[in-house]
Parts: sequence; structure tokens; C-alpha cells
Amino acid sequence: AWLQETPLRGLACPPPLRALVVFGSPSEPVLETAAAEWTRAVQAAFGERPVRLQPSLDAYPDAPFVAMGLVPELPLGLRELAAKALEAAVSDDAYAIVSTGGNIAVVAHTPAGLLYGAFHLIRRLRLGQPLHEPCVSSPHNALRMLDHWDNADGTIERGYAGQSLFYRGGQIDFDERRVADYARLLASIGINAIAINNVNVHPIETRFLTEAYLPGIARLADIFRRYGIRLFLSINFASPVDLGDLPTADPLDARVEAWWRAAADRIYRHIPDFGGFLVKADSEFRPGPFTYGRDHKDGANMLARALAPHGGLVIWRAFVYNCLMDWRDRRSDRARAAYDHFVPLDGLFLDNVLIQIKHGPIDFQVREPVSPLFGGLRSTNVMLELQITQEYTGQQRDVCYLAPMWKQVLDFDTHARGEGSTVAEIARGALFGRPHGGMAGVANVGDSPNWTGHSLAQANLYAFGRLAWDPSLDPAEIAREWAQLTYGDEADVVRTVEAILMASWPAYEAYTAPLGVGFMVNPGHHDGPNPEGYEYSKWGTYHYADWRGIGVDRTMATGTGFTGQYHEPVRSLYEHLETCPDELLLFFHHVPYTHALHSGKTVIQHIYDTHFDGVEAVAWMIEAWRRLAGRIDPVRFERVLARLLDQYDRAVEWRDVINTYFYRKCGIPDDRGRLIYP
Ligand code: GCU
Repeated sequence: AWLQETPLRGLACPPPLRALVVFGSPSEPVLETAAAEWTRAVQAAFGERPVRLQPSLDAYPDAPFVAMGLVPELPLGLRELAAKALEAAVSDDAYAIVSTGGNIAVVAHTPAGLLYGAFHLIRRLRLGQPLHEPCVSSPHNALRMLDHWDNADGTIERGYAGQSLFYRGGQIDFDERRVADYARLLASIGINAIAINNVNVHPIETRFLTEAYLPGIARLADIFRRYGIRLFLSINFASPVDLGDLPTADPLDARVEAWWRAAADRIYRHIPDFGGFLVKADSEFRPGPFTYGRDHKDGANMLARALAPHGGLVIWRAFVYNCLMDWRDRRSDRARAAYDHFVPLDGLFLDNVLIQIKHGPIDFQVREPVSPLFGGLRSTNVMLELQITQEYTGQQRDVCYLAPMWKQVLDFDTHARGEGSTVAEIARGALFGRPHGGMAGVANVGDSPNWTGHSLAQANLYAFGRLAWDPSLDPAEIAREWAQLTYGDEADVVRTVEAILMASWPAYEAYTAPLGVGFMVNPGHHDGPNPEGYEYSKWGTYHYADWRGIGVDRTMATGTGFTGQYHEPVRSLYEHLETCPDELLLFFHHVPYTHALHSGKTVIQHIYDTHFDGVEAVAWMIEAWRRLAGRIDPVRFERVLARLLDQYDRAVEWRDVINTYFYRKCGIPDDRGRLIYP
């Protein structure tokens, strides 16, 4: 992936890189990891292993060296320099690079900070950037987390890159080296937390809390710990019942509370730095407090009390909605659900509870507005949930680089406290002064040799980590950085890969469901076009296309009132046809096919045009990629080419199904006379 270990051709090893001094306790595993990663990277780049010098507070070696050290352990002069560099950094995970004489020092307050600093120096080395340049970097988010939807049987829900890295046949069963490499990849992009099992917790994973499974889980935790990553488990709210211990899982029943305390105590005996629980409750048939007439606060706080003595967190998902809706009832609206459920509970959750909110109000569609719940919760810790795995965005058969979409989400101004109330500031906890916050991404990896099935899908994992660390980064720059780290520094290769990545989300949007309408996919697996796949179902994801028009009226004036969940001026922006952005038009309004967009085109002509354009964009990607033949190793080159060719066929299928669907609905021909099947 992006930690390539090819030699850096034509470069001699710069003198300071020949020696390494580590200041800090040698028994500190993360510190040793930092030193080991740096040593490994230098050796790979120059074929020369840095000499490990013994730290000595008074005697410096004469030759220049790289130092890595925890601030209090540093020799005096360097300590002052380091403390000053880190002065403004608020996070324990911050690092600084300072240079003294010819030496380069990576300094931090914690071993984890040093590890991130070491990876930053490695990145500079591979990108050919100046190693000496002083810098300080502090993560924007305290929690930078991956949610694995892995099942104990080895399958991965919405996984498109093979089987689980952690489980096989109902057992914790893993290749230690592979998992350690995975931990390296994650640490290198700043990830510090991982939930290792699916939010849909089945009977086997329910037993993860028991002595039968905890020793194996602890072995996984041991690997991740060396890379500064804390392990979380998804739990089944009905565990006390399902494991046969109690007749109830009522969160207000003292026996239930005691049961969870005992479970937490047991987990911490095996995993002293266990992160906590991730919970999907009362959502899509998962059990929860509603069964007992209780609410989310009762459920989350009960678990939070069990974890609090150990410093654990409850991450409670806001993905709660009625999945038994009636398509005949046009007044009810799934988009409203998360806000309607959670805003009345604002301020009632304990301090070690976070509410994890999907970026959009529906479900990871290629285009959705930002969930209004971000602006709705003021006295509750929240977390942003993104989907790195491409469930609705091509399933890692199509290239779809999601960083530009995520960036729009992070930059979105909720106006919850006036201008500048961005999702990035809310998710980190800063806007409302919350003690916890962060970002979680649903993982896109499996045991496929290239981790993500499609090589280019690695860019999404990389970008997720980089944005969780620093949401101000530019997605194009991240793409460039990733391309260079992954494919080497030939300018043309880097430019082309960046261009393909940057074109890919717009292309995917263009040839699939139009103008924010979403969900025109096949039911169940969610791949490929099926404009009415969910139209008469109970899932609440409708578009209401008829012979005159399409879209969901979510206005306050005549629709479901969803726009009212936003603060002004966003509310009015979406409420009115005149101001609603084109790309979200059908999410908020039901309009005739002849309605003129701001672009000047009619809705129907926009649909036809974008669907032809989307296919053209894929054709362009194929040509661009082909020009890289011979300049990328043949294995990766051929695999990506094969995927792109497949993507072309898939895009054609989408184009033709969608265009024909709308042509048949409205009978309006394409004004450019292109082939639309009758
Ligand atoms: C989507 C997805 C499910 C998943 C759910 C969730 O609906 O299709 O597989 O379980 O989201 O986020 O809980």
C-alpha cells in the first residue's frame, strides 16, 4: 500500500539518517515501534540500517543523527526546544520535528505522538520533502477510529475485499504478521481506535464478552496496542438475555446493570486499555432499550456506568429509524428520524457517551445533505461516521475517491452557533466544548492481497486517516501524496492517478441516481441500477417518480418538514426551490421533469446529459490509465485496468437503465438525439 519499501534510487543516505538515538524508556512498546518503523524505512530506502546509539544526557556523538524522544527524557537543550515547539499543541498525540545543528529530532509528550512523528518523517522521506524542516502537528480529532463490520464466520458485512483479517469459522483466527502490517498502515495515518466486529452482533460475536473469546481478542489488542490503537467491541444490547444469564435486558433493572459491570470488569482484566462499546440499538431489528419502554439515554448511560471506572467509552449510533414504513404514507420521512429521536435527549447522556452520526440523514448515498443532527445536539458528545467501504459507491469495483465528499461534509456550516459552526468543529467537540469527539470510518479492508480489492480504493482509507488527523487538508493534495507514496514519484504517474481519483466521485454520481435522489439500487446487496428496487418497500427510501416529476418534498411548507431541522440560513436555502442547490434538488423537492435547474437545463435533460457524461468520464479514466503502462508494476497495472474496464460496462448499464427509466416515465426525448432505449 502506501508504505512501500522499494529503494530510493539514486540517493545516498543523508548522514543524520545513519544513526538513531531514542530518549525514553526502552520498555515502552509504542516508542520501540516508532524506532523500529523508522529503522525499517531507512533500511528499505538506502539499504543501510541506522546505528542505534545509546542515549546519554551529557555526551552527544559527533556525527549527526536522528533523535526520537519524549520531552522529559530529552537532554536539556533539546528538551527546551521541544517543549517550546509543542507549546501550542493541545493533544497528547501531537509531535514536533525540530532540528539542532545537523540533527533531526522527533519529539512528543507521549509514545503515540512519537509514533505519528516517526511516520511523518517517513512520509517526508518517501515524498522527497526536506527532513530537517521544523514542524508541529496535533490531531484535530481525539478519536480517529475504524469500524470493522467483520463477522466471526469470516464474512464482512458490506465488505468488498475478501474475508476478515481477524476471524475464521466462528473463531478468533488471524495471521499475526498480516494484522501487525495492518496496524502499521493504520498508525501511519494516525488511526488510534478500532472496533473489530460488526455493529450487527450475531450469536457468536455476542459471546465475545465471555471467557471463551476474550483471550483471543486480547491477543488482537496486544498487536494493535503496539501501534497506539485501542480496541473496541460492538455489543449486542440483549446480551444478558441471549447468553442465558437473565430474563431481561432492561437497562433500568439492577441485575442488568450489575451484569454489564461484571462484563466490563472481565474485559478489562484481559485488555487493560480497552476502548469501550460500539452500539447499534433499536435499529434495523437490533435489540435495544425500546423493548422495555426505555430510551436511548437509559441504554447508553447504563453501559457508560459499567465502563466509567475503567475509562471506557460508549459509542452509541444515531442510525435509528423505522424500517417498517408504508410507502403509501408520504408524510412520514426516514430522513427526519435521527434528529427526532436524539434531539429530545440532548444533555441527558453521561460524559463518556458519544452519539455516532452518519454524515447524511439517510444512509451513505453518493449525494446527501449533511445530517441536521450535527447542529441539533449541543450538550452531547458526538462523532462523525463515514463509510469508507463503498457499499453505495461502486463496491470497490468502481473507482470512487470519497475524500472530496467527506471534505464537503467536514466543511459544512450548520450555523448552530452562527457562522463557522462546521461539522469538523462539532465532531471534534470544540464547538460546544464537549469532552469527547472524533471521526469513525466503516473499514474497507479484508484479506485481499492488496487490502481493499481495488488498489485505488486504498486511497479512501488513506484519506480517511489524513482527514481525521487534519480536516483542513485538500483532497487533491491527499490524492497526490497517496499516489506518490504508493506508485513512486514519476510526475506523470502521480498526476494521472490524482486526476483519475479526483474525477471519480463526480463520475460515479453522474451515471447513478441523479440530483440527490439516492437509492436506485438493487435491494439487498445494493449494487447496480434498479430505479424502483426500493420504491414500494418498507425501508423508507423513496423517490416518488411518476409521469410528471420526481423527488421528495421535504419542505416545511408542503412536505415532511425535514428542512425545519436545519438552522437558518440553511433551512431557507433548502426550503425554497429558488435557492436549493441543484445537486440536492430531488432530496428536498418534488419537481416536474421540465423544471429548470440553476444550470439552465431541465431536470430531464440534466439526467440524460450526466448519464452520458459519466460514461465518458470512465472512458477517459481508462485511456489515462493505459498511458501509464510500463510505468507501474504490471501486477497492479493490470488489476486496476481490469477493474476500470469492468467499471465501464457497469457505468453503461447504469446509464441505459436510468435514462430509459425516465424516458419511459415522461416521454421527453433527449434534445441531443442520443440513443436512449425505448
Ligand atoms: C446500512 C447497511 C447495513 C448496515 C447499516 C448500519 O443500512 O446496508 O448493512 O448494517 O447500514 O449502518 O447499521
